Amino acid sequence: MHLKHQALLLLILLGIRVALGAVLIKDLDDLSKEVSYDYIIIGGGTAGSVVAARLGENPRLQILVIEAGPSNEEIFDTRVPGLWPTLAQTRVDWNYTTTAQKGINGGVVEYPRAKMLGGCSSHNGMVYTRGSRDDWDRYASIIGNEELTWQSVLPVMFKTERLTKPTPSGHLIPNIHGKRGKVSVSAPFTNIPFNDMLLQASAELKEEFPFLLDMNDGRVIGTGWVQSTIDNGERSSATTTYLKETGKNVHILLNSQVTRVVPVNSSGLEFRGVEVAENAQAPRRTIIAKKEVIVSGGAINTPHILLNSGIGNRGELEKVGIRPLVDNPSVGQNFSDHTSTPVSFAAMTQSTDFDQQAALEQWNQTRTGPLAQLSPTNHITWIRLPADTPPFHAGLADPTAGPDSPHIEVIYISLSSDSGSGVAPTSVPQVSSGSANVTIQSLIANLHPISRGSITLASSDPFDHPLIDFAIFTKPLDMAIAREGIRSVRRLFSAPGLRDTVFGTSSPAANVTSDEELDAYIKSVSAPLGHAVGTAAMSPYGASWGVVDPDFRVKGTKGLRVVDASVIPLTPSGHTQAAVYAFAEMASVIIAGG
Ligand SMILES: Cc1cc2nc3c(=O)[nH]c(=O)nc-3n(C[C@H](O)[C@H](O)[C@H](O)COP(=O)(O)OP(=O)(O)OC[C@H]3O[C@@H](n4cnc5c(N)ncnc54)[C@H](O)[C@@H]3O)c2cc1C
Ligand SMILES: *[C@@H]1O[C@H](CO)[C@@H](O)[C@H](O)[C@H]1NC(C)=O
Ligand SMILES: *[C@@H]1O[C@H](CO)[C@@H](O)[C@H](O)[C@H]1NC(C)=O
Ligand SMILES: *[C@@H]1O[C@H](CO)[C@@H](O)[C@H](O)[C@H]1NC(C)=O
Ligand SMILES: *[C@@H]1O[C@H](CO)[C@@H](O)[C@H](O)[C@H]1NC(C)=O
Ligand SMILES: *[C@@H]1O[C@H](CO)[C@@H](O)[C@H](O)[C@H]1NC(C)=O
Ligand SMILES: *[C@@H]1O[C@H](CO)[C@@H](O)[C@H](O)[C@H]1NC(C)=O
Repeated sequence: MHLKHQALLLLILLGIRVALGAVLIKDLDDLSKEVSYDYIIIGGGTAGSVVAARLGENPRLQILVIEAGPSNEEIFDTRVPGLWPTLAQTRVDWNYTTTAQKGINGGVVEYPRAKMLGGCSSHNGMVYTRGSRDDWDRYASIIGNEELTWQSVLPVMFKTERLTKPTPSGHLIPNIHGKRGKVSVSAPFTNIPFNDMLLQASAELKEEFPFLLDMNDGRVIGTGWVQSTIDNGERSSATTTYLKETGKNVHILLNSQVTRVVPVNSSGLEFRGVEVAENAQAPRRTIIAKKEVIVSGGAINTPHILLNSGIGNRGELEKVGIRPLVDNPSVGQNFSDHTSTPVSFAAMTQSTDFDQQAALEQWNQTRTGPLAQLSPTNHITWIRLPADTPPFHAGLADPTAGPDSPHIEVIYISLSSDSGSGVAPTSVPQVSSGSANVTIQSLIANLHPISRGSITLASSDPFDHPLIDFAIFTKPLDMAIAREGIRSVRRLFSAPGLRDTVFGTSSPAANVTSDEELDAYIKSVSAPLGHAVGTAAMSPYGASWGVVDPDFRVKGTKGLRVVDASVIPLTPSGHTQAAVYAFAEMASVIIAGG
């Protein structure tokens, strides 16, 4: 190509670059009163970013996203995968804690939720899991919507997914992944002897722990390599992809909290008004959407916003002094999350410790090294408890959606020589490649608890935190399954391939074997995992329960939809972001269709 043409092409490309990208408005005073918006999206999080970007593909539409927090781009650590555990309880987190949880000895635990563009996709653990075939088929059947079956939802997931190197052969099945979507999915890994030993042990006990070539293939049972939303060593989130690629017709108002949605006139229930303020003291301003308002505040904040708006249980609303407009007792109820029980094992193998400073330098220079991954370990084990496991003897129903679904997930966090530490130890010098006494840190998750909690109002002040009650371990079956999870991992670690490496459970669970002792241990250390769903559940048209219809409209209202994790009626057999992206892609098509 001629040099002059090349230069011209470059200019054109640059021009297009410059023209791309949403308009960022840093505070409410800078929001023009002249511009009117077709759609207002509350929350620029995981789902909100998808809906904004997809609706924005129509250049004739004006879209406003209102986000309570700042831009993710202000926070360097959001870019570095291995630094994700440092982002909770910072200025880009809502700093929530739960109510006292009876099932864990009255414990009050922190419950991270991101308060920045990209929402939790800007600070989550990046594990990419779709859930099981059974989970989606169950959603379809509960909701009465064939669009939600595994078969129907896979192509929707491909819209999100862009398979990105590294994808080592034998670590996943490339042809079941999306290649041209938005969010990168890759499978970086570290070379540690534990990899082979774990896979060896799994192979030896393949009835219970088969090798799972791809945990996103519908059957989620066994040990497989982790896939994550990482793009060449850097976090790939809803905001670094969907939002970043929108045009100037998408406006993003930052640092502004929506307090309520309001009907556009006193007689109707057409909630196209959005009341917003910079903080509790600042004056509130109401912005009207010409077409619709979409609430995407996440599983905690969406019911909070609805309740503050008078959409919820009439009696409960009146108790805190809010005028009920739509009586719906399901708002904020049916709150579910996976449970997380840390269990450590003593072992003698190569540690995964690394020098944090050196690792950050390496990441800065080449986007490689231990911080280019979400954790220095590489696998997840998904366990389906055998049908003759004790909890099921008592005639208790299996809480999973079917035979291809696990009860338990084992998340390996690190093999640390600093036995006291959790994730990403700080500045422990890398020892030789030889063996050391290490602690295998793991989390054991019950993926399908039947306990149901709630989000309720502490007061009528929208700036007060809501009451966050998981009701964790309030049903004996949930505890029994967590208990069997620990026993099951112990079986895995005593397989020939691992029994010379792993010596047993470490303190304080070391000698705990009876049901009573295991339960006491579980109660003393467990917490919710961070995969909240169900608080504005989708249910069939005309159902006596649920908050949104299959078209995401809030029941009993007009002009108002909810699109985020709160519509997912039950926990999936996996981490939740892939499901949230899928629901949001589905919603975008429906909303664009009118
Ligand atoms: C610590 C942690 C680790 C996780 N790890 C994983 C993982 O490894 N893999 C995985 O698949 N899932 C993971 N998850 C879960 C997953 O990230 C979430 O399920 C998903 O991102 C939720 O998306 P959402 O759109 O429902 O809500 P969010 O992404 O939370 O978005 C809600 C947005 O709305 C904004 N907002 C809320 N209220 C208001 C208001 N009143 N006004 C204006 N804006 C408001 C919030 O600030 C936020 O940006 C993790 C979650 C956490 C917290
Ligand atoms: C959360 O708590 C941390 C630590 O106390 C604080 O620095 C941060 O500002 C808080 N975040 C918000 C949004 O208030
Ligand atoms: C309510 O608003 C709608 C449209 O937004 C309008 O058509 C209707 O007349 C209004 N009703 C009243 C009572 O103002
Ligand atoms: C909770 O969800 C179940 C379906 O999973 C439904 O039967 C029940 O009515 C719901 N409860 C509330 C309060 O919405
Ligand atoms: C890495 O880069 C960030 C951002 O440019 C910088 O703040 C940090 O000091 C760097 N760290 C190291 C160890 O090079
Ligand atoms: C590991 O721990 C055991 C028992 O505490 C000790 O005897 C042994 O020397 C340790 N090995 C190494 C390599 O540190
Ligand atoms: C476990 O039991 C052994 C032998 O009875 C004992 O030596 C050890 O201290 C116990 N460990 C813990 C953590 O209680």
